[in-house]
Amino acid sequence: MNNNYIIDNITQLATCSGFSAKHGKEMSDLGIIENAAVVITAGIITYVGPVTDHLPLDHEKDYETIDATGKAVLPGFIDSHTHFVFGGYREEEFYQRLRGDDYLSVLQSGGGIYNTVKATGKASLEELCAIALSRLNKMQAMGVTTIESKSGYGLDKETELKQLRVMKRLQQEHRMNIVPTYLGAHAVPEGYTEKSYIDFMIQEMLPAIREENLAECCDIFCEKGVFGINESERFLSEAKKMKFNLKLHADEMVDTGGAELAVAMGALSADHLLHVSDKGIKALSKSDTVATLLPCTAFSLKEDYARGRAMIDSGCAVALATDFNPGSCFSYSIPLTIALACIYMKMSPEEAVTALTINAAAALGKAEFLGSIDVGKKGDVILLEYPSYKFLPYHAGINIVEKIIH
Ligand code: NIG
Ligand code: FE
Repeated sequence: MNNNYIIDNITQLATCSGFSAKHGKEMSDLGIIENAAVVITAGIITYVGPVTDHLPLDHEKDYETIDATGKAVLPGFIDSHTHFVFGGYREEEFYQRLRGDDYLSVLQSGGGIYNTVKATGKASLEELCAIALSRLNKMQAMGVTTIESKSGYGLDKETELKQLRVMKRLQQEHRMNIVPTYLGAHAVPEGYTEKSYIDFMIQEMLPAIREENLAECCDIFCEKGVFGINESERFLSEAKKMKFNLKLHADEMVDTGGAELAVAMGALSADHLLHVSDKGIKALSKSDTVATLLPCTAFSLKEDYARGRAMIDSGCAVALATDFNPGSCFSYSIPLTIALACIYMKMSPEEAVTALTINAAAALGKAEFLGSIDVGKKGDVILLEYPSYKFLPYHAGINIVEKIIH
């Protein structure tokens, strides 16, 4: 594969330049360069700047030249919160929700996530790989070059490991960068109490995952009636000791103090935050924990959107992600995510782009290597059909990514 590119005559380059999360007002700065060029050598960015006759090239290498006249160029999008490896579908549950059923009541009566757990348990590794691979291709077509992917539809040892092994296999077969997260703490399985299941994860699962190096992060569904704040803290402390990065499903349906816990634990991100308190926002704003907002989930659940505007105005570092999963949000649409963020969460197009690039990289602990067009970073770059990033929310729900380089 040719990994050497000259992207020339770029009408508008949004570099999103930076090596760590951007907070508050910093999110508005996309590091725009007009009439720009980018060089990628052996998959790494080696030049970013104005068009010039003297591009620094490695003359031993063959470069493919791409003319980006009339195009905007951005870093590849990073979808930092997905659950894309699963078996089966839950269209009946969605149908019932349209008629008034409540997401948590369905889960607590043994449906919801538990239905996907059954279907994922029955599917073979090959079957899961095949379906997940076709999803990856569709996500990539929307400009996604890195995705985070959570387990959590196994709950038992064998199926959780199977899901994580699927991600490892896909990483070998697909150009997408995949960041695997262990989310065994997604629901308490039959035969366990909350406490005994956390014990099982700490004693059996974390060492097994470490041994095969199957996950970079651990996550927990910290929610009323699922995992409480104290047990969440106990699980995350052990995961931290074992050198996993931490993420939390926090304050999604009810404010349980999940954001504050994420900050106290030094988590990479606190995700959802539909019901985060002012205190939680304040804690996030003073920390390096990224507030990851998932507007497609609020949309699909007909919930109020997270207070993205207030978070950015308070100085938080906000990321956006799809939360693609079989239950609360069957959408991996980046265009829809951007449109909802700008139209309903009052984020500016600049903030939305930052939230899907450098801040999303930070939410995965990878801002040094990914998420911006800076010399030394991985050459993950997308071209839009149009000359400005401003077309992204304006062309609501429509994919305008024309070319993906990674
Ligand atoms: O992020 N909230 C918990 N987990 C997922 C939903 C999982 C499911 O319904 O299958 C979420 O919304
Ligand atoms: Fe989720």
